[in-house]
Parts: sequence; structure tokens; C-alpha cells
Amino acid sequence: MSSDKKFYITTPIYYVNDRPHIGHAYTTILADVLARYHRLLDEPTFFLTGTDEHGQKVAQAADKAGITPQDQADRTVVRFQELWEKLDITHDDFIRTTEDRHVIVVQKILQDLYDKGEIYKADYDGWYDVASETFVTERDREAAAPESRANIVRIQETNYFFRMSRYQEWLVEYINEHPDFIKPDYRRNETLGFLRKNLNDLCISRPKTRMAWGIELPFDKDYVTYVWFDALVNYISAVGYCSDDKKFKKWWPADYHIIGKDILTTHTVYWPTMLKAMNLPMPETIFAHGWWLSGESKMSKTLGNVVNPMEMIDRFGVDSFRYYLIAEMVLGQDANFTEDGFIRRFNSDLANDLGNLVSRVIKMIQSNCDGRVPVPDQAALDRAEEQELWNTVQQSADGLQESVRHMRLDNGLGRVISAVRATNRYLEIRQPWALARQEAKAELDTVLYMAAESLRVASALLYPVMPERMGILRRSLGIEKVDPEFDSLRKWGGLRSGTYIRSPGSLFPRVRMHVSSEKGIKGNTGPDAGCVDKNKIKSADRMEEELKEKPEGVFDVITYDDFARVHMRTAKVMEAERVQGANKLMKLNVMMGEERRQIVAGIALYYEPDDLIGKTVVVVANMKPAVIRGVKSEGMVLASIKGESLRLITIDGEQSTGAEVK
Ligand code: ME8
Ligand code: MG
Repeated sequence: MSSDKKFYITTPIYYVNDRPHIGHAYTTILADVLARYHRLLDEPTFFLTGTDEHGQKVAQAADKAGITPQDQADRTVVRFQELWEKLDITHDDFIRTTEDRHVIVVQKILQDLYDKGEIYKADYDGWYDVASETFVTERDREAAAPESRANIVRIQETNYFFRMSRYQEWLVEYINEHPDFIKPDYRRNETLGFLRKNLNDLCISRPKTRMAWGIELPFDKDYVTYVWFDALVNYISAVGYCSDDKKFKKWWPADYHIIGKDILTTHTVYWPTMLKAMNLPMPETIFAHGWWLSGESKMSKTLGNVVNPMEMIDRFGVDSFRYYLIAEMVLGQDANFTEDGFIRRFNSDLANDLGNLVSRVIKMIQSNCDGRVPVPDQAALDRAEEQELWNTVQQSADGLQESVRHMRLDNGLGRVISAVRATNRYLEIRQPWALARQEAKAELDTVLYMAAESLRVASALLYPVMPERMGILRRSLGIEKVDPEFDSLRKWGGLRSGTYIRSPGSLFPRVRMHVSSEKGIKGNTGPDAGCVDKNKIKSADRMEEELKEKPEGVFDVITYDDFARVHMRTAKVMEAERVQGANKLMKLNVMMGEERRQIVAGIALYYEPDDLIGKTVVVVANMKPAVIRGVKSEGMVLASIKGESLRLITIDGEQSTGAEVK
């Protein structure tokens, strides 16, 4: 990060040969999240994205569609722009390489470099890979898979070359002296490895007779410039290079070029040498993230195994899509995109942990505090539990801020969700629902204020990732400044007592998994649940299958009232005997306070009758009586069960029988 505290971040500019897919969405969301965090840190921020519209790839797509390349670009660019709008992307500029403001700058640079002797004319004979728009060696061609080889064509022609080779030594030294220049470190090593071989000069032209779709060389009208020599320039043409000195000085050099690892060489070798020849400062950091894979292979338009982001958004909502992509990928490494993984993470982090906390806190404030933020008791806030929770919350803010700096957003989000979980645990310890029943108003107010403050901080920390949902949550908590500032997170007491709160509605309704025979596991209830989907009408068998499909750790959310309908009591086992003819069943006689009950339990495979006598167990006391194998059962005993193991729930220490369990 540069010291003058501005933040200029870019995404690659995407080819307009086809509509955007999840990979494009990912890079753009990542840059958006980073831009939003930096804005919260109060740094002037400039976020640039755009489209790469020249070159053979786009020309070929146009040919195939029977339209002009410009039409191809005009039609496709809208798809990107619409997607960014839908995804709440807050770019400050969108550059298209066919715009005059860009074309003029590219031509100016070409002329300057030509005049300085950095560009010369020579014969070229070699291979060109249209898919990646790069020259490849004979060996690369031989190593390529047959379907990729079809994209590699022989080129024999006179062309213009950029004297890239003369910067090889300088570049190696620069990379070695600037450890933050290429990130992560393994990508830096990859570039250094590439630079161990002799660096060639770069062919930067195409004769119009072969490929006319590009920017004309100002010094030779028979040629257009090579698409990468055009595309990379967008990073400076968009911020005023050669047109607005003040703007250019303000933003350049970029703080981050965010790219995928597929375009590492063009960004860490071509671009720096071009800048060096132009006598311009280097970007601070080129960060290459990994790929979203589908199964074993990269998701790519060429392979046809892409997930359509529009479809995911329609089903699950924008914010959960943004959250999943950012929380799931360890920055730098590859990640697998699966719908299962998506639903699992959604249900566990958002529906359960966060959604649960929100609904608990808001509902309890509504029903116990006249719907206003309560006044906490200062002394009660100094207790160990309260102090510890606030520390955890503060540490999650530190952790997140660090994770932004070190590009470990997955980690940072994990810290925030941990703080949310800690707040849920705090509520379980303090039991505000019991306090409400006991009419312990001062204590209740303190506990609810504490939990709401924790939500205030969490909603701010998650805001850059889920701007829409966290915006709703913050407004519902009565926070005026929806766009939080990081500074305000460090101060206790941001919520103003007496402010009215509102229900945010259901922010993250749980997505149910169910089995669909044709499609495998599908989640069909998105945040826009409520519409009837014929896949959702299922038989009882199907429902049971669905329950089996429920991933571990995913539960239906219930309210306290739901829970309170179950009455549980401690009971002491007085007698135990096996039920004849049923090897799993045991008949128990228990004392529950003054009351004697007979209970049939499926525990005979795990306990001997003698082991049971004298144990204090937990009984569901308001269970409807049933007759099991001809034996009357007036309740149920609780046990923990995992796989082949079953152990009864017993009471820690002395407790009289008939005591409430809650
Ligand atoms: O390369 N996983 O454009 P492009 C993650 N125009 N990210 C992915 C991805 C995947 N499976 N697939 C694509 C170009 N991306 C040039 C760039 S820049 C001056 C010119 C993302 O349309 C990732 O950011 O092929 C990758 O670098 C970019 O899309 C490539 O987009
Ligand atoms: Mg590509």
C-alpha cells in the first residue's frame, strides 16, 4: 500500500467474446469488497473495471455470430455492466478499449516508444495461441491438448517488436527488491522462474491483412497493435495519463492490480517492462488469485462448464453469493464451486449464526423494551462475560482489518462469524428469555444492549461484503450512518439508547436441501422463498430422504417459544428391565419429583439394566403417552447419539429429581 493513503484498485478488463461467468464475477466482487473496505478506512479510493474489446478472440466471436466486432462488443459489454449493477459493484469507472479516450493514449504511447527506439520492425515466424492471445513456443504447441492445439496458429510475417529483452535484468532485480510487487509469494517465484530463461522481445503488431480489429499503429497504417499492448494500458488511460495530469498524479501508481493466475505473465513481465520503457512508476502490488474450479477443471467459457452468476443470484440473492465467493476462497489458491458447498455455508454462517442472533436480539428488544434500544447498567457491563464478549468483538474488528491488509479475507470473515457465535453463546449464558420471565428488567436491558452492540460491529464489518442485507440490518437497529467508519467500531456504545428499532424481516431464510432424482441435491428455497416450486411438493418418503440429506450442523431455526413448549425434567431411574421380544428396548421406572413414570427407551443395546439404576436422567415430561410393543410409555429420555454410540444425558452434580431442564 502506498504511503500517501489513497487506494487505486483495478480488475482485469474482460474479453467481450462471451457473456460473463462466475470467474469474472469473483474478481470483480473481490475488488469491490477491497474498495469498500478502503473507503471505510477513509482512504480516497478509485476502483476501475472495464472490457477488453479488440483482438482476434473478439473478432472470431463476431465472425461466428455474423456481426461486426464493434457490434459484438456493444452487445456483450451490456451483459457485464448489467451484472455489475446487479452485484452492487461500486466501480468508479468502466473503461472500454474501443473508447477514444483509450485509443488516443495507446497511440500516443506507441509513437513515443517508437520515437525512442523501443519499437523496431522485423520478421516473425512462430506460433500464436488465439485463446490466450499470446505467442507460444514450438514446445508449448506440442504439449497442448488437441482441442487447444486447434487454437494455435502458425504466423510468418513482418511485424513490430518492443525491446522487452533489454529490461530482463532490471525486472529481476526490481522483483527481488520489492517483495510486495507480486503476491502471493508463490506467484512471485513463478515469475522469477519464467525470467530465468532468456526474455525475448515482444511482437506488438498484427498486419491488417490478417487481423484488422485493433488500434492502428500511428507510424504504420497497415498494422494494428497487439491486444495486450492495448489492454494493459487501460490501467493508466482511465486515470488521465496523457490527458489529465492532476488526476494521473493523484491515482497512479495503482495500489492493486487484481488478476487471476491465468494472466500472471502479461501483468508481471509485459506490463512492468512497458511502464519502465515509458518511464512510469510501477504498481504497488499485482495480486493473482486462484481459479474457481468445477470438479477438477477450471471454469471457463472454452470448456463450457461455467456457473451462470445471474442464475445463482436469482436463486440465492446477491449478498449470499458475494459472501460465499469471498468466504470460501483462500486468496491465491484454487477453490471448488459446488452448490452443496454454497448451501452449507449459507445455512451455517448466515441463516444459523447471524440470522439467529439478529432475530433473537430484535424480537427480544421489541417485546421487552418497547421496541427501543435499552439502557445498559454500567456496573453490569464490567463483569467478566461482558468484558470478554466485547474483547472478542474488538478482536474480530482487528482481525478483519489485518485480513484486508494481508489479503486473507476468508480468515477475516471467519473471525467476524466467530464473534457472532460468541454472542449467541453469551445469550445462552445470560438467558435473556428467562430474565424476561423473571422480570429482571435492568439485567435484561444490559444483556440485550450488549448483544445489539455486538451486532452493530458485526454488521459494519460485514457491510462491504453484504451491503444490501447489512444495510437493512443497520437501519433496523436505528443506525443512521449505514456506511460505517472503521473508527466508530472501536468505540463502545454506538447504539443510542431510546432509538426505535424495526424488524429487518428474515435476512437469510434457511435454504433447504432436497433430493431431486434428475439433478442430485438441490437447494430450492432461496431468500426469495415463498413462490411455489413444483420440485418442492414431495411425498412423505421424499421428506425423510431430505432429512437424511441435511448436512451436519444445519438445523431449523426455532424461536424461544418453540423451545419452551418442550418440558423437560430430571428423573431418577428406580427400576430397569428389557422389553421381551424387542432387543433394543428397555422399560424404565423413574421418579420425577413425587411422580412415578414408566418409560420405554431404545437404549437396550447400549446399557445393562443394572447400570441404569440410580442414574439421574433427563425426561421429556409433556410427551404424549404411547404404547410401544404393548408397553405403555409416559415420556422420553434424552441421549446423545453419534453413529454406533449412544450415551444418556445425565446431570452434572447433585440435583433433586423433577427439576426443570431448560
Ligand atoms: O484475460 N476462476 O480476459 P478474460 C477465477 N482480457 N477467476 C476467473 C476464472 C475462474 N475460473 N475465469 C476467469 C482476459 N476469471 C484479458 C485481461 S487485463 C489488462 C486483460 C477472471 O475475459 C480472472 O480474473 O479471459 C481472470 O484473470 C480473468 O477473469 C480473465 O478474463
Ligand atoms: Mg481468459
